[in-house]
Order: sequence, then structure tokens, then C-alpha cells
Amino acid sequence: MRPLDVLRLPLDALALASGAKSFVRNPVIGSRRLNEWGLHPRRVALAERMAAARRARMAHLIPAEDRDAFSRDGFVVKTDFLPADLFAQAVAEAHAHVAAPREMRQGPAVTRRIHLDRVDADRLPACVAAAHDPRFDALMRYVSSHDVASLRQLQIVIADPDRGAVDPQTALHLDTFHANAKAWLFLQDVGPDDGPFAYVPGSHIIDAPRLAWEQEQALKACDDGKSYHARGSFRATADDLARLGLPPPRVMTVKANTLVVADTHGFHARTPSPKPTLRMEIYATSRRNPFSPGIGLDYMALPWVRERPGRLLDAALDQAVRLGLVSNSWPRVAPRRMDSPDVG
Ligand SMILES: [Fe+2]
Repeated sequence: MRPLDVLRLPLDALALASGAKSFVRNPVIGSRRLNEWGLHPRRVALAERMAAARRARMAHLIPAEDRDAFSRDGFVVKTDFLPADLFAQAVAEAHAHVAAPREMRQGPAVTRRIHLDRVDADRLPACVAAAHDPRFDALMRYVSSHDVASLRQLQIVIADPDRGAVDPQTALHLDTFHANAKAWLFLQDVGPDDGPFAYVPGSHIIDAPRLAWEQEQALKACDDGKSYHARGSFRATADDLARLGLPPPRVMTVKANTLVVADTHGFHARTPSPKPTLRMEIYATSRRNPFSPGIGLDYMALPWVRERPGRLLDAALDQAVRLGLVSNSWPRVAPRRMDSPDVG
């Protein structure tokens, strides 16, 4: 251990009380000794209890049928979500909008995003209205287990199998060790060859066999060097699902105007696409401190921040890149129509 690492140890230990998940970047989280003593499954179990307590206080936010679907499956699917006229307007706006987006490449897939903050309503009124629909917001709060605003974006996934390499999102995985929410309001039909989202129903449930599996994966992650697994995004195999008594993933082929909200600490993946595809969706994400009692201030609800959280995060990210604190994995690219197949 280098002298700097020793000085950082108190901070690394404090990070145990946060959503920090990397077994590589944090020597406390990645300590083989502590993990032999069960550090990781203890964090998972405590985070789960905290999430259940927060959700219990938010039961009134969503209909009983959605609560039942979520507790059974780990996701909620709402078809014909928006009124038809608002949906049609959102689709037209999303396609024709010209902006300088951020893009990220993962193997054959490029993900393009722009924010849908309230201040963007002058140029994208229907998309912003859809992203801020109160039913959408309530589902995000309940599924993420945090009664806070989520980040909303217009997302375009452009996949081309000819670009080669493997898309890491197509391996069945969990995003992190605790409850959080991601949502997609699909702006077109998604068929079996369009790279649909897949989720293993019930894989968000943390029971004794799952905690034993988490313990095994944590020890593997301690010995691993650099994979997604070692960064705390554990991969699951078909054998793992069988051993945990879980069904195969459900592939979500959906009609346009379907909203899917999922807790991505359950097992999920993007199904590989055998042909070039371009998919558009209104996307939301919410991931907060898993050990929060849920009674603190929501910084995204502060009056000025509330109107522009995406822009503020963008500015912070740009500054962090300039200072060399983070790598620029989401570079901004030249202005283009959002439905342009040209990437980079
Ligand atoms: Fe994921």
C-alpha cells in the first residue's frame, strides 16, 4: 500500500456508508479479509432493509397493482402511457431536435443523450412534459426507494453489429448492490431484433441464497483486477439463475408509448441486436445513498436546481474532466439531429 493510500484509508472506510461499490478503487470495500468476514452481504442486507423502510412510507404514491407488480418482478410496465396526442408530439420533437449531445460507445452500441430539464421546455415542450409526468415521477420514487427527483434525458441507442466488439450491457448483470431505478418510455415499438431490455423477474429480492451468492461474488471481485465484476457490477450466468431458483430473463418487446421502470439491482441486460438499429426513449435514472434514512434534503428539489439539474451535472462533469479528476467517457459531439445514425 502506498503512503497516499494509507492517508486515504479513513475516507475509504467512510465510503462504506455510501453507494461506493468498486472493489478495485476502494481498498476497504475490496479487502479480502473484510469480505471473508462478510462485509459485502452485510452492506447488501442493510441497504435492502433501509430501502424497504423508505418504500413503506411511499406506498401511497403509486396504485396497488403497480406495487404488487414491483414486489413480485422488480419492474413495472405501463402500456399506452401518455395521451396519444402528447405522445405523437413528443416523438416528432425528439426526432427533429438538433443539439450537441453526449455520446458513449460500448462495443457495437452508441448511447446518445441530452437532458430534459424543465428549462428545456421552450424547445422540447412535449418531451419535457412526458419526462416530468407525475405518474412517471411517482414510479421512479417508489422503485428507487428514494422520495427525490430523478434525472431525465432523451436517450438514443444506435447499435450496429458491424462495429464489432462485445457490448458489455448484453451480459446479464446488476448495476450495483442496492435499490435504484431506471426507466425507459419507448418512442417506437421494440421488437425481438431491436435490442430489447431483458430482466430476470424476482431477481431484485434479497433472500438467504442471494446473500450467499453475493458473498461468493464479492470474494471473486477481490481477486479480480479490472472487470465490471470487480467494479461492483456483478455478472450472473444461467447456472447462477438456476441455483438461485430464478426464471430466465423476460425480454421486453414492447409497443411504442410503453413505460418500463426497473430496479436495476436485479439482473438485467440489453439483448444483442443482429441488425443496425436506432431506438429512442425518454430515460430517467435515480440512484442515491442506499443507507439514507430518507428524511434529508433533496438537493435536486432546491428552487434553482430543480429547473436545471442535468445542466448543472453537465457543468460539474466538464469541470471534473478539465481538472483530470475523471475520464471523459461521455464526450460532447458536434450538433446533429437526435435521430441521426451518424455517431462520434
Ligand atoms: Fe445495467
